[in-house]
Amino acid sequence: MTAPRVGDPLSRLDTPSMLVDLRAMERNIARFMRRFHGSSVRVRPHAKTVKSPVLARLLIDAGARGMCVAKLSEAEVLAEGGIDDLLITTEIVGERKLERLVRLLAAHPEVKLVIDDAGAASALNAALRRTQLTATVLIDVDVGQRRTGVLPGAPALALARHSAGLESLKLVGLQGYEGHLQQLADANDREARCRAALGLLVDTAQQLRDAGFAIDIVTTGGTGTAEICAQHPGITEIQPGSFVFMDSTYRKIVGAEYDCALTISSTVLSRPRACEAVIDAGLKSLSTDSGFAEPKTQPRLRYRPAGDEHGILSWDPADGIELAIGDRLELIPSHIDTTINLHDVYYAHRDDRIEAIWPVSARGRVQ
Ligand SMILES: Cc1ncc(COP(=O)(O)O)c(C=O)c1O
Repeated sequence: MTAPRVGDPLSRLDTPSMLVDLRAMERNIARFMRRFHGSSVRVRPHAKTVKSPVLARLLIDAGARGMCVAKLSEAEVLAEGGIDDLLITTEIVGERKLERLVRLLAAHPEVKLVIDDAGAASALNAALRRTQLTATVLIDVDVGQRRTGVLPGAPALALARHSAGLESLKLVGLQGYEGHLQQLADANDREARCRAALGLLVDTAQQLRDAGFAIDIVTTGGTGTAEICAQHPGITEIQPGSFVFMDSTYRKIVGAEYDCALTISSTVLSRPRACEAVIDAGLKSLSTDSGFAEPKTQPRLRYRPAGDEHGILSWDPADGIELAIGDRLELIPSHIDTTINLHDVYYAHRDDRIEAIWPVSARGRVQ
């Protein structure tokens, strides 16, 4: 059997495969980007979700300006794919990474970095000083997520002062990602807490400006908070990622006007018990960190993983569901970022035809 090709019907694909419904994806991107047309806020989508230069290019064609990546290795893949204007949103630490970073910056000087520690900033500076390169940096500020980031206010100002003495670093802005608020179900609560977090970030930016620093970029926001961030005075850039495809978790947060454009196809392998079917999609096909996947079209079916390679669909006897060995169905992941990283390619289809096959080029690029 030859490999699936563009133009083939979807039925030619073996399972599990990762499918993209192009109409739904195009609608999601158009709807999302339309909200920011005419706004001075720049949309710099996070490619940690899509992990593909092809999709990054598609987003840039739709109005995005530059991309974010989480890791240096993702930046390498995107830069290789022709996307230069990148912000790496995670701190880069350690000799091995600094060597790789220097090579990346030599070829792609537009790549921007974040720092949250004076010692790490000095190490970055030392690696660059040997090369005459300058790195454009943003200070990563902890606005409540309690992950990376220096605290707002005086600690951020102290780090800015330290970086001013490092000749190979050029400070241009602040990043303050409120990841802990993205999926708060209560929209009012999400907005109130997001505004408080943004207040910390914008106030810190002002303190740095008052001290003489040119803070041109203030970047933040994900799919759950992008609109709040874009309307908040002082925010210059948003960095959402999941809106492209959505997932079952985000769809409940952002509402039904967005579709779940990405699914995992699967086949019924076995019907060993009443009201249960065993399918070929388990933990190696669908991530579970945000709960279990949901069948796309049969809401009464429940999915649970049954090991690495298997999953179980179950239903109530009263539902009268008939599933036979060999039947196929699609599942909506609960978290696309961690699911996409399990697959080699996207099969993008319009109706029943495969229209494009995109490699997940940065799959497994976690360094
Ligand atoms: C720093 C940063 N910015 C933006 C995002 C994008 O968030 P989302 O995929 O929820 O839109 C993430 C996601 O984890 C992130 O870590």
